[in-house]
Amino acid sequence: MLPIGNLRVNLVKLVKINHFKINNMRTQVAIIGAGPAGLLLGALLHKAGIASIIIERQSRSYVLSRIRAGILEQGTVDMLHSVGAGQRLAIEGQVHHAIELVFKNQRHSIDVTGLTDGKVVTAYGQTEVTHDLMNARHAAGLATVYEARDVSIEDFDTVQPKVHYVTDGQHHELACDFIAGCDGFHGVCRSSVPKDAIQEFERIYPFGWLGVLADVPPVSPHAIVYGNHARGFSLCSMRSLTRSRYYIQCPITDKVGQWSDAAFWDELRLRLDPELAGRITTGPSIDKSIAPLRSFVAEPMRFGRLFLAGDAAHIVPPTGAKGLNLAASDVKYLSSALIDFYLEKCSAGIDGYSQRALARIWKVERFSWSLTTLMHRFPETDAFGQKMQEAELDYLVHSKAASTALAENYVGLPL
Ligand code: APR
Ligand code: PHB
Repeated sequence: MLPIGNLRVNLVKLVKINHFKINNMRTQVAIIGAGPAGLLLGALLHKAGIASIIIERQSRSYVLSRIRAGILEQGTVDMLHSVGAGQRLAIEGQVHHAIELVFKNQRHSIDVTGLTDGKVVTAYGQTEVTHDLMNARHAAGLATVYEARDVSIEDFDTVQPKVHYVTDGQHHELACDFIAGCDGFHGVCRSSVPKDAIQEFERIYPFGWLGVLADVPPVSPHAIVYGNHARGFSLCSMRSLTRSRYYIQCPITDKVGQWSDAAFWDELRLRLDPELAGRITTGPSIDKSIAPLRSFVAEPMRFGRLFLAGDAAHIVPPTGAKGLNLAASDVKYLSSALIDFYLEKCSAGIDGYSQRALARIWKVERFSWSLTTLMHRFPETDAFGQKMQEAELDYLVHSKAASTALAENYVGLPL
């Protein structure tokens, strides 16, 4: 018997997890994917004494090498603290009380905190969130299988679902009560659901985001800056007081090799107001990449004993900084449902998970889509369309009602 969490996991055969070999094993919840959704779900379950094993396709270092967004809603911050993964966040996270909108060469501040009775967002990279959750999981002695190949799931329409995978050339079978598909947009879980049992909704945007990470002080350390310009969208963000994150909208056909650092900085400055552009500290990029933008939702999110959470079930364009936060709210709902099942012998939570999660997901999809539509230049955005965007932004920054609507979505809708 291997003590994991507050419960024990019955070993059918003594095998390896990180330091042991697994051939056949059983746990309560098999989590597919060691991204933010899988790691946070495992931590929330562990806190309630529910055992899980995470099966991850990539190596630990590969998962940590991904550069992703970095704005946390308070609900996400609170969850990280509740599972003991908030220490570094409390020290290094940068609390923001406002956002700034740039259009017609002028910058306007939206007092997000003042408009939401004191709520804030925190700038802290997703990579750091993932790192902190990985460290907390390891410290708790919980099992994560990295570099798992040929991961497949079966019998999730029965009460004895199974996960199969290969490591070190050996086939492994993991029996469990539930499978949590936290394996992202390109994962195996959603694609294992029969096509006639799932409905997908998608909007692919006709542009990409060229993102640069540079070890230079952020031009706006206390507010994320969103720019609307006839040349395209721009965004000024940060990872710390010495590391900045910038984005500019670019044609989806662009290749990152086409963009020198100098060309990026020049284009960014053209899209900002002159005062802000004049204050930007440039420097060599330590990461430069082009990401496509899409809105996507799969319904439902439960299939027998399989539950989808995070990017496995939905994608938002990064404009609203909602991807990680939406993954966190999914696993908040899912962990509560599974805790009720095990500790209260109540199935209402798992039966209602999909409907509850989707109600919030669609509201966040709407916010992310609307802000993307407002801030970006589309192929069909002609001179009149540009004027309409500028008029809407002008109304937004001068209307308390409109600014409040933006602010309450930006800090995060209630869980
Ligand atoms: N088997 C095992 N693991 C898999 C498989 C598979 N077949 N397919 C994918 N994975 C792993 C990926 O390697 C990744 O580590 O699942 C993990 C999914 O993590 P994310 O893609 O980060 O998704 P999620 O945890 O839902 O977090 C959502 O991440 O992508 C960003 O913008 C997104 O901020 C949002 C957040
Ligand atoms: C980021 O810091 O990467 C970031 C910030 C705000 C966004 C999107 C991305 O809306």
